[in-house]
Amino acid sequence: MISHDVLVIGAGLAGLRAAVGVSQKYDTAVLTKVHPVRSHSVAAQGGMNAALANVEGSKDDTTEKHAFDTVKGSDYLADQPAVKVMCEEAPGLVYELEHFGCPWSRLEDGRIAQRPFGGAGYPRCCYASDRTGHMALHTLYEKAVELGVRFLEEWFVLSLAVENDRIHGVVAMELATGKVEVFGAKTVVLATGGYGRIFSRSSNALINTGSGIALAYEAGVPIEDMEFVQFHPTTLYGTNILMSEGARGEGGYLVNNRGERFMEKYASSAMELAPRDIVARSIQTEINEGRGFNDEYVHLDLRHLGREKIVERLPGIREIAIDFAGIEPIDEPIPVQPGQHYSMGGIATDVKGATNVKGLFAAGECACVSVHGANRLGGNSLLDTTVFGKLAGEAVKEYLDSGAESPDAKILHSAFKRQEKSIQEIFSRESKGETPGGILTEMRETVFHKCGVFREKNTLEEAYSKIRELQERYCKVAIQNITTRRYNPGLMNVLELKGMLEMAELIVAGAIAREECRGAHWRTDFPVRDDKNWLKHTMAVCSQDGPVFRYTDVEITDYEPKERQY
Ligand code: FUM
Repeated sequence: MISHDVLVIGAGLAGLRAAVGVSQKYDTAVLTKVHPVRSHSVAAQGGMNAALANVEGSKDDTTEKHAFDTVKGSDYLADQPAVKVMCEEAPGLVYELEHFGCPWSRLEDGRIAQRPFGGAGYPRCCYASDRTGHMALHTLYEKAVELGVRFLEEWFVLSLAVENDRIHGVVAMELATGKVEVFGAKTVVLATGGYGRIFSRSSNALINTGSGIALAYEAGVPIEDMEFVQFHPTTLYGTNILMSEGARGEGGYLVNNRGERFMEKYASSAMELAPRDIVARSIQTEINEGRGFNDEYVHLDLRHLGREKIVERLPGIREIAIDFAGIEPIDEPIPVQPGQHYSMGGIATDVKGATNVKGLFAAGECACVSVHGANRLGGNSLLDTTVFGKLAGEAVKEYLDSGAESPDAKILHSAFKRQEKSIQEIFSRESKGETPGGILTEMRETVFHKCGVFREKNTLEEAYSKIRELQERYCKVAIQNITTRRYNPGLMNVLELKGMLEMAELIVAGAIAREECRGAHWRTDFPVRDDKNWLKHTMAVCSQDGPVFRYTDVEITDYEPKERQY
């Protein structure tokens, strides 16, 4: 049995920041299903919010104002003490990345540059052109390597070994060989990112399957607020690759087929820089009411910014538009439509990343602290990963300092046997049976079209029945190649699909239950926010018959809920 004090699952920004913090004192390994710099944090474009007050127009910015914007953006569902912690930690984390070597974009005088972002009262989004995640991820990976963190690459976690409310380690499969192995650990940090790829249109990488959330759910950890799914307003028509909010932050317009900057109707003050839920709904409304192009998209127009600004501040956006749509944004508008982008919900944790299982922590997009509530502001995601990765690392150290018990080999061995048996059972199935790809496609189309930007009871219930049907069909799903376990992507697809269906079920069931509109959860049949009945968090717990819901209070300490105006 391989053993470590700390096992971090996932090598994106949250996982790396946790590992960097704890590895100086405790034996730490990061287990990841892809090479660390292929983690999805690499795709983050626009930036990371921190009230540095560096630029013209932001001199009065403060961490309190950042906190207020975040709470208002969340449609008052975020827990305010946690938001306060995140915003207060923000400047320190930006400078820490700078000291680790992150090449932030600069002002003339050498200070870190900041740009306006949606729902923010001041330009506070620190950026590295439009490749911020790439720069930050490479920086933290180098730091982790320098500190001697051990990386176990291309391992996929099959289950958490939890007994008597305590973590003992994980069972994982090496992709190269198909070998199943147990990893004993006194503490495990889940940092596995979001579930974007359960939707047909998503800006997320194919690796974003929600596997860490599913592991926690199956181990009995409550999963919070899953009905709140972020649809990014501007993903590239055709591929749904992210077209950063930074493009609108730099002054880009959204235009309909009449040539109108239609955001004037929906958010006359903030315009294109209203929060994402509002901009995504506005775009979808324009399309639904016939003012889009080909009934599919609107235009993101950058032409008035001029070549120099586009090339300097938005080189990645330009490159993607040219390579994937054949569009040169200097000369032509970019076709965009809303696409799934972010998971506001996730594994319920406290502000230090602790779950209800002793020794099990979670951080980053797979966790729900909750700092984003019903709608995350752009630029708060990179911030969330680094802040809560750091705090989880500190909490792990405290837990280990207090004398955490060693993992129980018997419990790990039984967990191993269960997983090995279930893989053998998959290999024993008739290979001409149903393929995972068919179920995956039906699930993705169902969830996107019936539980998307706009939702209503009838279509949500159709989606729920469909997911239950797909879950039944899943039990007979077969892999095409039953001759080898070595790099068998079919096996991986079957294994991941189970958790993806569970995530889809949680999202849709939560959306059926919540009869109101709040942030990104927009019920056309219950068209107002209902603070009297629904100012509360959804907590889903796994049972034989599907999720069981209970509800908990939102922590409101500084800002009383009000109607949002932008
Ligand atoms: O639009 C963007 O660049 C995305 C940023 C974010 O999700 O925070």
